[in-house]
Amino acid sequence: MQRFLDLADFSREEIVELIDLARRLEQHPEPRVLAGRILGLVFFNPSLRTLASFQAGMARLGGTSFVITPGQGTWQLETCLGTVMNGGAAEHVREGLPVLASYCDALGIRAFAEGKDLARDLAETAFHTMAEVVDKPLINLESAMNHPCQALADWKTMDELGVPRRGKFVLSWVQHPRALPLAVPAATVHMAAQRGMDVVVLRPEGYALPPEIMDKARAAAAAAGGSLRETAQRDEALAGAHVLYAKEWGSTAHYGDVEGDATLRARLADWCVTPEWFAAAAPDCKFMHCLPVRRNVAVADAVLDSARSIVQREAYNRMTAQMAVLHRMLSRGE
Ligand code: CP
Repeated sequence: MQRFLDLADFSREEIVELIDLARRLEQHPEPRVLAGRILGLVFFNPSLRTLASFQAGMARLGGTSFVITPGQGTWQLETCLGTVMNGGAAEHVREGLPVLASYCDALGIRAFAEGKDLARDLAETAFHTMAEVVDKPLINLESAMNHPCQALADWKTMDELGVPRRGKFVLSWVQHPRALPLAVPAATVHMAAQRGMDVVVLRPEGYALPPEIMDKARAAAAAAGGSLRETAQRDEALAGAHVLYAKEWGSTAHYGDVEGDATLRARLADWCVTPEWFAAAAPDCKFMHCLPVRRNVAVADAVLDSARSIVQREAYNRMTAQMAVLHRMLSRGE
């Protein structure tokens, strides 16, 4: 495997094989398989799970890693092409990333959406600028519109907790003090569709996912025998649901418009998941969230602390799923 950038680049069967490998590595650890291998991790944005789970996963396979946080102890890196670099960035990714890639066997990059120009973010312009100068295996640690590592971990989590493959999966917008990127909702809706589920995107007016994201997921659903639709009607969306996956994202009707988004979300305080949301759901409906989450803004304590919540399992599976990716990418048997 040379690149792990988008779950959509892999067939359903290839994803199932990766999850099987992750399970095998849990049952039969291979603590020396990546001895002598080095993973470079570049974080333009903060992280808790992605950073720690990649370092821990690499160490559990016998490899090592280094972390670069541009601008924090290292030079700030410019990502835009054609920029007159007379500002804060001392170095361009076109020089900096090949240097880092030359020190390691695989590189991971996290670079969130700029959140100003929807078309530019949908095109993954910044990530592509970086990917094209990296000549080593490359992992997307969350880009403008994708988070494949989260999606793989969530798929594995649903499999091991017995969520039916053909079950009903509701991705719901939830409240947050400010607009957040579309990467997780885009990756999540595609993952559930590719798994073959009946997917419903529940969101208030002004927060519809862009057609580019919905069309891609709809095609995946059709190929896997599932379905995809969106609604603003909570009761109808959640009736019979097997999974409620909560996520915060910014208004697509006011993309890049901080005030417009703030005005809209100020009226949406009731989009905080409470136990009442599950009234008509399947009895064993699971609650999922990628974390981090703001308690009692996005999700009530009573949900996060309930038996429905599988957020800790999702976070744990970040490590186990990524170990399978690293194994495929870097073990010499491949
Ligand atoms: N879910 C996730 O990617 O968490 P971090 O932002 O902490 O890495």
